[in-house]
Amino acid sequence: MPCTTSYLPLLLLLLLLIFLVPPSETAQNKVIIKGNQTILSFKSIFRLGFFSNNGSSNWYLGISYASLPTPTHVWVANRIRPVSDPVSSTLELTSTGHLIVRDSVYGVVWQTDNNEPGTHFRFSETGNLILIKDDGSPVWQSFDNPTDTWLPGMNVTGRTTMTSWRTLFDPSPGFYSLRLSPSFNEFQLVYKGTTPYWSTGNWTGEAFVGVPEMTVPYIYRFHFVNPYTPSAFFWYIVAPSKANSEPMLTRFMVDANGLLRQYTWEPQTQSWNMFWVQPDTPCSVYSLCGQLGFCSGESLKPCACLRGFRPRNDAAWRSDDFSDGCRRDNGDSGEKSDDTFEAVGDLRYDGDIKMSRLQVSKSSCGKTCLGNSSCVGFYHNEKSNLCKMLLEPPVNLKNSSSLTGVNGDLLYIRAPRKGSSKGDISKTIIILCSVVGSISVLGFTLLVSLILLKRNRKKKKTRKEDEDGFAVLNLKVFSFKELHVATSGFSEKVGHGGFGAVFKGSLPGASTFVAVKRLERPGSGESEFRAEVCTIGNIQHVNLVRLRGFCSENLHRLLVYDYMPQGSLSSYLSKTSPMLLSWETRFRIALGTAKGIAYLHEGCRDCIIHCDIKPENILLDCDYNAKVSDFGLAKLLGRDFSRVLATMRGTWGYVAPEWISGLPITTKADVYSFGMTLLELIGGRRNVIVNSDTVGEKETEPEKWFFPPWAAREIIQGNVDSVVDSRLNGEYNTEEVTRMATVAVWCIQDNEEIRPAMGTVVKMLEGVVEVTVPPPPKLIQALVSGDSYRGVSGTSCSEGHGCSDLNTGLSSPGSRSSFGKPSSP
Ligand SMILES: *[C@@H]1O[C@H](CO)[C@@H](O)[C@H](O)[C@H]1NC(C)=O
Ligand SMILES: *[C@@H]1O[C@H](CO)[C@@H](O)[C@H](O)[C@H]1NC(C)=O
Ligand SMILES: *[C@@H]1O[C@H](CO)[C@@H](O)[C@H](O)[C@H]1NC(C)=O
Ligand SMILES: *[C@@H]1O[C@H](CO)[C@@H](O)[C@H](O)[C@H]1NC(C)=O
Ligand SMILES: *[C@@H]1O[C@H](CO)[C@@H](O)[C@H](O)[C@H]1NC(C)=O
Ligand SMILES: *[C@@H]1O[C@H](CO)[C@@H](O)[C@H](O)[C@H]1NC(C)=O
Repeated sequence: MPCTTSYLPLLLLLLLLIFLVPPSETAQNKVIIKGNQTILSFKSIFRLGFFSNNGSSNWYLGISYASLPTPTHVWVANRIRPVSDPVSSTLELTSTGHLIVRDSVYGVVWQTDNNEPGTHFRFSETGNLILIKDDGSPVWQSFDNPTDTWLPGMNVTGRTTMTSWRTLFDPSPGFYSLRLSPSFNEFQLVYKGTTPYWSTGNWTGEAFVGVPEMTVPYIYRFHFVNPYTPSAFFWYIVAPSKANSEPMLTRFMVDANGLLRQYTWEPQTQSWNMFWVQPDTPCSVYSLCGQLGFCSGESLKPCACLRGFRPRNDAAWRSDDFSDGCRRDNGDSGEKSDDTFEAVGDLRYDGDIKMSRLQVSKSSCGKTCLGNSSCVGFYHNEKSNLCKMLLEPPVNLKNSSSLTGVNGDLLYIRAPRKGSSKGDISKTIIILCSVVGSISVLGFTLLVSLILLKRNRKKKKTRKEDEDGFAVLNLKVFSFKELHVATSGFSEKVGHGGFGAVFKGSLPGASTFVAVKRLERPGSGESEFRAEVCTIGNIQHVNLVRLRGFCSENLHRLLVYDYMPQGSLSSYLSKTSPMLLSWETRFRIALGTAKGIAYLHEGCRDCIIHCDIKPENILLDCDYNAKVSDFGLAKLLGRDFSRVLATMRGTWGYVAPEWISGLPITTKADVYSFGMTLLELIGGRRNVIVNSDTVGEKETEPEKWFFPPWAAREIIQGNVDSVVDSRLNGEYNTEEVTRMATVAVWCIQDNEEIRPAMGTVVKMLEGVVEVTVPPPPKLIQALVSGDSYRGVSGTSCSEGHGCSDLNTGLSSPGSRSSFGKPSSP
């Protein structure tokens, strides 16, 4: 019909108009959220609404946990364009079927990119905002467009990118992202979308090569569908820790400084418990410290400026954004011909920079550099006389890893001459003094005498308090100055734990050394600190490191311990450690450690859970006797267990399962960690060997990367000898080894009720209590596929355990007392 044909162009024009007109302009938009309104998910776990951070005037539409006291945002819609007016801003479902965020000033600041129109939306219990079309299928969901957080149930495909916030308080896209690799077989952390700096390693079918601990069947179930293909997707879920209970709140997050962190919510402490983080040092994060920034890797302030330099952006630096790096102390325009060179050693940097190579001595290398205004420093090699001039500022300087740092290239950074700026200051001071001085010598003297008087009074007062409070304790109260002198200005660092750095020192008049632990960011006030120190000071046992004294002055919190000359057990557990511990010594260490922990659990007035048993915290005195260290500190710094966990080598392998499931922590958590430590002592190696340099090498044998499941299976099957450190050449007491190995497997049972108490562990090790064959811990499941495992369950079945129980790894309650007496068939 001619009639219709003539109308067709008009119709098309009309259609075109509809599409051209911004969706916001139509009147039939449905307002979903306006101003301070929020939407809760059905069980009120998540909340959707506008928020702003830290009192800023930028507002964002986001999803956060509704029930938590601390706001935790898991998704942000308009992260690129904030709204400024929280009162009249809206989330709307447009007549064209899109979700939009609209600001009364700027109009539409965000909109969904769905091709098919949605007609309604759903806010699911998993924290997913879903736009749905008529037939009920989703056309868009927030899980496909995440910000920095990966929640349980969210599929990660080849198109998913999780990008960090710019800073702790700024949701705009930052530098760091997590994504599947282009070959769809591993996860990568990527800088600015182009430069990968960490990866999980290839998928092996059960786990990623670089993350073997994910096979530990805690509460997580990971699924990788169609790996190595473009249709690959990966997701995880959380199993409820107890029947009928809600699953834990948990999330992965790429933080603003490029680390991938995993958290669970701890209802007991009402805080997020970070129990896994990668890469294991922040210095691996690409460009973390910026141009001319130096990465020291210290847990709280990983970045620093070299001498002669200072942060380019002080405010950002203070809030842990180091990306602007460092600049010359006296400004970039300062007199540069007068420069000197700071020898900074064998440092590396990220990426490539422009260099010019010469074959000259160090001094002429320096001269050439000084003569070229774009030269910021040089590498020089004494042996080859190779000089490499840096014509651009290097980024994220850091200590060479032992593997690459053997070539002997030393770095010299061009810096303003020392004192050039100081000179100016001292000049000013001299002028000031001569002017002021001549006028008010009298006033000054008066002031000084007043101050001195006041100070004396104050000193007397504190000294008196100390005498009253600590007379019984034999704890010495040190001044900061005393400890500064004792440690020669904190010059000899002997370790760095989760609570702070440890320095060697000597006290005047004492023949032995002390170890001074300087606590980072003290959590408690002065009186709480003193109360806790008092508690710790009262705990004395031959297998616990003795606290000698402390210092609590202004913001300084220091603890003074006996110095342990042979260091920590961890330094003897690498295959490359120079000194081999004999079996006899190992057994003594195991027993001593057990006694020390048992004393903490059962011997003192208040039961103390150590929370961080691991070889690093087992120190050795001059006769290689074990002394447990760091007890009581978790409590000392407030109940912030996450900091303790963060230091656990960033792996799940050492942490008892109940810790991660949010169940109450009991002394049995220490028993679990002790069991893991025993395995390391027997094997003479670490349980988890994840070296970023070996990732990528073909590792065929599973025991190479995650020792406990394999070791536990061998022990249960009676092949204890295969687990023992081969460097001992068979020189050990087979009965002791068997006993210790079996105890280890009892300790790492998933069900904490089955684990023996520490006092029982001591008796088992001593041989006072007979040790029976333990049921297989759940983590064995990680490796068993069929045959070898059936062998195990066969044995246990004949002992009267139910097979179904064994298959879930949980033993029947009947086995509870079986380490005390042989279980009868
Ligand atoms: C929400 O905003 C309105 C004004 O727009 C105000 O009256 C109301 O008290 C606010 N509600 C809350 C919970 O802040
Ligand atoms: C956020 O607020 C806290 C306290 O109100 C303040 O100490 C901090 O510096 C603020 N941070 C930023 C980035 O504004
Ligand atoms: C994840 O993928 C599976 C399989 O395709 C699908 O059944 C499920 O609905 C997806 N989940 C989400 C949240 O998209
Ligand atoms: C860098 O390495 C040197 C020697 O290898 C060491 O003395 C120095 O303490 C290291 N610096 C840092 C910050 O780790
Ligand atoms: C510095 O040296 C490089 C390489 O020799 C050269 O290309 C550049 O022009 C020099 N710059 C100046 C300012 O001399
Ligand atoms: C990992 O997988 C990729 C893609 O299949 C392959 O090219 C690479 O060789 C694998 N790496 C290792 C260490 O197996």
